[in-house]
Amino acid sequence: MEVRIESTPHDVAILAADFIEFALRVERPTIGLATGETPLATYAELIDRHRRRGLRFDHATYVLLDEYVGIGEDHPASYRRHIREVFTDLVGVPTNAVHGPRGEAQDLEHAAEAYEQLLADLPPRAIQILGIGRGGHIGFNEPTSSLGSRTRIKTLHSTTRADNQRFFPDGEPVPLHALTMGIGTIMEAGKLLLLATGETKADVIEAAIEGPITATVPASALQLHPSATFVIDQAAASSLKHHDYYREIVMNRPVWQRP
Ligand code: PGA
Repeated sequence: MEVRIESTPHDVAILAADFIEFALRVERPTIGLATGETPLATYAELIDRHRRRGLRFDHATYVLLDEYVGIGEDHPASYRRHIREVFTDLVGVPTNAVHGPRGEAQDLEHAAEAYEQLLADLPPRAIQILGIGRGGHIGFNEPTSSLGSRTRIKTLHSTTRADNQRFFPDGEPVPLHALTMGIGTIMEAGKLLLLATGETKADVIEAAIEGPITATVPASALQLHPSATFVIDQAAASSLKHHDYYREIVMNRPVWQRP
């Protein structure tokens, strides 16, 4: 596990974009994207690289972590719609190369199985971007989610629903349920890149990195992954005990370890 502490959210975005650019070098990669506010700066940086120096994205397939139940792409809070608006449409990725669980399906169990099948049929995920919820969720795997879970329906925690109310039109409640890749599904990506910025994430980042591996903090499962990197800013790193050691590791990295 690697912990990269960057000075500002902007620096987090630059480093995260470097990792994604690196993953895009293969011929037909699958890239796992996250929604939420944190990765927006990374997507803006990638859009900038596309415009400035023609970085290409149209050879890859993109998969999302989750989607609200009962919400289709016509809804403003739909994650499939959102990711197209903030990223993939702006870098020349065709709509049919962007996938997410079908939260609008009548048969949600079937939709979950179909998403697992899609992930199995695509080229292996080179990288999976992750955010982290205040309670430690990755995707919508709320505390006590099985560390071996697959794509399925989850009941959202009240703190998640409160945090995400800002993405919904006035007066419309956040759905109670979501379809989400499981923790087991997430762990199958070749690389996991968890992004966190701001002091509100400091305690949960400390629990995920330095606490025990526990279903109560789903992001602690990254401790089991052979290639997991946390890219966080100073504020999100402010509760870490081994803060200085993480910096020393980065300062003394062998030159062949890139990015
Ligand atoms: P945020 O969400 O990036 O909007 O803080 C993170 C998450 O809930 O995964």
